[in-house]
Parts: sequence; C-alpha cells; structure tokens
Amino acid sequence: MSKTGKKAIGGGIFIAVIIVTALAAAGISALLVNIFERKMEAGNPYVRLVEVDEDTTDPAVWGKNWPKQYDSYKRTALATRTRFGGHGGSEALPEEKIERDPWLKRMFLGYAFSIDYRDRRGHAYMLQDQEQTDRQTKPQSGSCMHCHASIMPVYRALGDGDALAGMNKTHAMSYQELNKMVHDMGHAHPVSCVDCHSPDDMQLRVTRPAFIVGMQRLAESTAPVPAIPSIEIWRQGSRSQPYDPNVDATRGEMRSFVCGQCHVEYYCSSKFPLTFPWGDGLKMEDAEKFWDGLTMDDGHRFYDYKHKESGAEILKAQHPEFELWNQGIHARSGVACADCHMPYQRDGASKVSDHWVRSPLLNVNRSCQPCHHISESELLARVDSIQQKNFDLLQRAGVALMDLLDAVNDAKERGATDEQLRPALELQRKAQWRLDYIAAENSMGFHAPQEAARILGESADYARQGQIETMKLLR
Ligand code: HEC
Ligand code: HEC
Ligand code: HEC
Ligand code: HEC
Ligand code: HEC
Repeated sequence: MSKTGKKAIGGGIFIAVIIVTALAAAGISALLVNIFERKMEAGNPYVRLVEVDEDTTDPAVWGKNWPKQYDSYKRTALATRTRFGGHGGSEALPEEKIERDPWLKRMFLGYAFSIDYRDRRGHAYMLQDQEQTDRQTKPQSGSCMHCHASIMPVYRALGDGDALAGMNKTHAMSYQELNKMVHDMGHAHPVSCVDCHSPDDMQLRVTRPAFIVGMQRLAESTAPVPAIPSIEIWRQGSRSQPYDPNVDATRGEMRSFVCGQCHVEYYCSSKFPLTFPWGDGLKMEDAEKFWDGLTMDDGHRFYDYKHKESGAEILKAQHPEFELWNQGIHARSGVACADCHMPYQRDGASKVSDHWVRSPLLNVNRSCQPCHHISESELLARVDSIQQKNFDLLQRAGVALMDLLDAVNDAKERGATDEQLRPALELQRKAQWRLDYIAAENSMGFHAPQEAARILGESADYARQGQIETMKLLR
C-alpha cells in the first residue's frame, strides 16, 4: 500500500469524523433546545388567566389557571371503595361505623359519637357531611369548622387581620353561628386551593393556626422527631424565632404538613381553643400525657366525656393519620402523604399532582410502583395482610374492652363502690384511648403496622388488667 493511499483513507476517516461530529452537535443542540423548551413548559405550566388572592376560596376561580389540578380535585366527589377504605353504604350517605362494630357504639355511650359516626368519604363532602351529622343534635362548637371549610378569611376577619387571634375566638361561638358566617361571607367551600397553596407563587404552605401552634410546641419539646429533620435543625439553631413550618420545613415535609392541618388528633369544644396535643411529642402516649396533664376550669383533670355505663373519664381519639404515619417506616424514609395519596401523573412534559385525594390502593401503579418494583397483586396482598392482622387485633381489643365493661357492671350490681372501682376505671381510660386511637386512624394499620399492633396489644392488656381488678373486688 502506498503512503498516499493511506493518506486518502486517513482523509476519508477525517471527513467522516467531521460529519459525525457535526451531526452529533446538531443533535445535541436540538435535544438541548427541546429539553429547554420542556423545562420551560414544566417550570411554567400555566398561564394566569385570572388573579387569585388570599380571599379567593372558590376553587373554580383557581381552576381557570390550573385546569388539570382542578379537574382531578373535583373528582373527590366520586364514591370510592376498597376493603377498608373509602366508604360502604349508599351514594347518599356513608355507612355507620357504629352499627358495623357494636363495641364501637358501646364504648362511645355518653358521647355524641354513639349517635352517628360514619365512614369518611371524599374531600368534596367535608362541609356537607359535617352540617348533616346527627352529632349536631348536641351543641357543637365553632372550632369544628377549622378542618371542614375554607375558613381562613373568616379567621382574619374575626381577628382584625390576625388569623390565630380569630381562631381563638371561634371555640366560644356555636357551630351554627360560625357556620352561618362562613356561608354569608362566601367561603362555604371544602378544603380549597388557597388552604395549601400561596396565591402569589403556588408554593405549598400551611394555613391552619392550630397546626402551626401544635408544631411550635412540638419543636420546643425534647421529643425525638427523626421523621421531621427540620425540627431537629431548628432546635440546634438560635431559636430566636419560633419554629415556623412555612419558613423552616423542607418541600418534602410540606407534602405531609398540608395534610397534617386536619388529619390529626385534636380537642375541640367550647371550653378552650382547638388544640393539637403535641407538646410532649407525636406518639400515642405523648398525646395521652399531654391530655392527662391538662386541667379544666373547675380544676378537674381533663376528659372528653364520662362513660355512660361505668362513669370512667374517657379520652376520645380522632383520626391520628399524621401522628401514626410519623411512627412508620415510610415517614422515616421521607415518603410523604402526597407521594401515596396525590401521586404524579405525566401530562406531556409536565408532571401533574393528582388532586383526586383517595385511597392509594385504587392507584397502585402511580402510588406505590414508582418505588416498589413488584407486581400490583403482590403489593395489594402485602397491604391486605397488614390490614387483616390489624383488623383481627382491633376486634380482640374491642372484645376485651366489652368484657371489662361487663365486669364493671357486674361489680356495681353486687355493690362495689365508685372508690373501689377507681383502679378499673383508670384502666378503662387507658385501654379505650389506645383502642380508639387505632380504630379512628383510617389506614387500618398500614401507616405504621408495628406501632399499631403495639398500641392494640397494650389496649387489650389494660382492658384485661381492669377486668382482673374488678374480679378481685368480688373475692
Ligand atoms: C406509603 C404510602 C402512604 C403514605 C406515605 C400515607 N398513606 Fe395514607 N394510606 C395508605 C394506604 C395503603 C391506606 C389504606 C387504604 C385503603 O384501605 O383503601 C391509607 C389510608 C389513608 C386514609 C383513609 C383512606 C380511605 O380511603 O378511607 C387516610 C385519610 C390517609 N391514609 C391519610 C394519610 C395522611 C394524612 C398521610 C400523611 C400524614 C398518609 N395517609 C400517608 C398509604 C399511605
Ligand atoms: C383537626 C381537624 C378536624 C376538626 C377540628 C373536626 N374534624 Fe371532622 N373530620 C376531620 C377529618 C380529617 C375527617 C375524616 C377522617 C375520619 O372520618 O375519620 C373528619 C370527618 C368528619 C365527619 C365524617 C365522618 C364521621 O365522623 O361521621 C363528620 C360528620 C365530622 N368530621 C364532624 C365534625 C364535627 C361535628 C366536628 C366538631 C366537633 C369536627 N368534625 C371537627 C377533621 C376534623
Ligand atoms: C381542611 C382539612 C383537610 C385537609 C387539609 C386535608 N383533609 Fe383529607 N379529609 C378531611 C375531611 C374532613 C375528610 C372527610 C370528608 C367526609 O367524610 O365528608 C377527609 C377525607 C380524606 C380521605 C378519604 C377519601 C375517601 O374517598 O374516602 C383521604 C384519603 C384524605 N382525606 C387524605 C388527605 C391527604 C393525603 C391530605 C393532604 C394532601 C388531606 N387529606 C388534606 C379534611 C382534610
Ligand atoms: C390539601 C392540600 C392541597 C389542596 C387543597 C390543593 N393542592 Fe395543589 N398541590 C398539593 C400538593 C401536595 C402538591 C405537590 C406540590 C409539591 O410537591 O411541590 C400540589 C401541586 C399543585 C400544583 C403544582 C403542579 C403539580 O401538579 O404538582 C398546582 C398548579 C396545584 N397544586 C394547583 C392546585 C389547585 C388549582 C387547587 C384547587 C383546585 C389545589 N392545587 C388544591 C396540595 C394541595
Ligand atoms: C417514595 C417511595 C415509596 C412509595 C411511593 C411507597 N413506598 Fe413503600 N417503602 C418505601 C421505603 C423506602 C420502604 C422501607 C423499606 C426499605 O428501606 O427498603 C418501604 C416499605 C414498605 C413496606 C414494608 C414496611 C412495612 O411498613 O411493613 C410495605 C408493605 C410498603 N412499603 C408498601 C407500600 C405501598 C402499598 C405503597 C403505595 C400505597 C408504597 N409502599 C409506596 C418507599 C416507598
């Protein structure tokens, strides 16, 4: 082969390299332009057609700017069902929980929950269901509205611009009075866009004063909160300002905090402002300690109601989803409520959060499978196995509590005095608080399976200890 021949081949390769490089460069820049355009699309996925501000509680107005989110939000009006989630019953009204589990009704005797206590359903119904519950046949306080309507403008009006001051007036108002005010001022909407988003830039934010005060108390305590790192960071700082979720929390934490505004244990009556019991921590016994440490106006230890049969001073638990989630492996791994209950949907280049908040079991593909690369049927089977075990333990603990009540009635019939029964009634308070805590939590144990089992185990144990106390009296 001649030198020139080699050269010719070398030149051919050289030209080919130039052509390939040029093509690649063109390809890359086309790709870059495309990525840039997509990024613009994703970063700026809406055109503001109408202005929204802090007083725009009507979601339909926001829907003009953000139609995709609004469309899925509206679907919360559709009925959903899973084995333990959504609701049974007719389309008109969810099923009565207290008829399904007779022990539930008996443990609430002496309280409005024994009159009417139903399955929850979608967000679209929250105000209507509250207005219609037969629990309203007993006087209820204005505090109820905190989690059932888009109430912030009303709080600000009552507090001359200060929402916390406004909220602190509402417990003394009757439910009907505050409800009328919310309607008259045009804010009778269920949880709305403005409750979770800033109208200026759509950033997630929390609005509910009871949540903000509760989180401040939690931050100021020494309770470990490994699943909320921003609290640990605040504690190590100067503490010149109180912990403020809207300033201190990470974006990931906000994806759970927006739900924690309502899906929590609380106290709500005309006696004192709506309170989230987090001053000693977020665990079940931290809340128990917080309530046990409170005294009422008459100096007596705090309780929600006296049990109609036994006379025990009972603590009523309400849907502690945020608290139980906090004790589970998902929270610990940084998995937020919104990851499972508002998963992303692809929409062209942009990702849209599904605002049809519902059971993730109706949506395993988008709710679980982005992280768990196993089949849908296997995931559903794992959840069902957790829920079945929790359900079985719940029933056992319910039976144990009924046996305690029977034993107390029996001892009373045979002449046992209140003084003699006191230890058994204290054990009823502890057993019932634990049972109700898991019965009222809406995931049937899924949010923290081991923690739920621990609590139910303690419940059954306290109920049986109480039963033994009464039997000792009869010896
Ligand atoms: C890892 C996923 C996951 C996370 C994170 C999670 N949940 Fe759930 N949640 C579930 C599952 C699974 C159920 C059971 C649904 C069923 O039984 O149909 C459930 C049930 C519920 C229910 C009852 C649903 C119904 O249809 O009746 C509510 C309410 C709820 N969760 C709220 C929350 C809140 C609030 C948070 C955050 C504090 C949270 N969840 C975090 C998976 C999750
Ligand atoms: C801290 C927030 C909060 C407050 C305060 C609150 N609720 Fe609710 N409520 C919820 C959540 C969350 C659900 C859905 C979960 C569930 O049903 O367990 C719910 C469900 C309900 C339901 C439907 C299911 C059922 O229980 O029959 C009714 C009715 C209701 N609430 C009435 C009231 C009344 C009356 C008050 C005042 C005494 C009140 N709520 C105060 C958060 C709250
Ligand atoms: C302003 C209070 C409030 C906020 C904020 C809120 N919820 Fe709810 N949620 C409720 C109430 C009240 C109900 C029950 C409505 C009813 O039964 O009429 C409910 C019902 C639900 C249900 C049951 C739906 C069904 O179809 O059965 C789920 C799941 C749920 N919420 C999850 C969440 C998640 C996740 C978040 C945060 C992204 C959240 N909620 C934020 C008050 C709230
Ligand atoms: C209970 C709280 C809650 C309510 C009510 C709510 N959102 Fe959201 N929204 C979220 C969460 C959580 C995200 C995810 C944001 C993130 O991770 O940064 C989100 C995301 C968004 C985004 C950003 C893009 C996306 O889809 O992720 C838009 C836009 C939006 N919501 C619009 C609305 C509109 C419009 C309404 C009323 C019709 C509304 N939201 C009501 C919680 C809520
Ligand atoms: C954002 C990621 C993410 C999502 C979404 C998610 N998980 Fe998980 N899940 C995890 C991580 C992380 C663990 C911890 C185990 C580990 O580290 O491997 C876990 C653990 C579990 C476990 C075993 C632990 C336990 O609680 O007993 C089950 C079961 C589970 N997930 C089911 C689900 C289901 C069902 C869904 C959807 C409703 C879901 N996960 C959604 C990340 C996720």
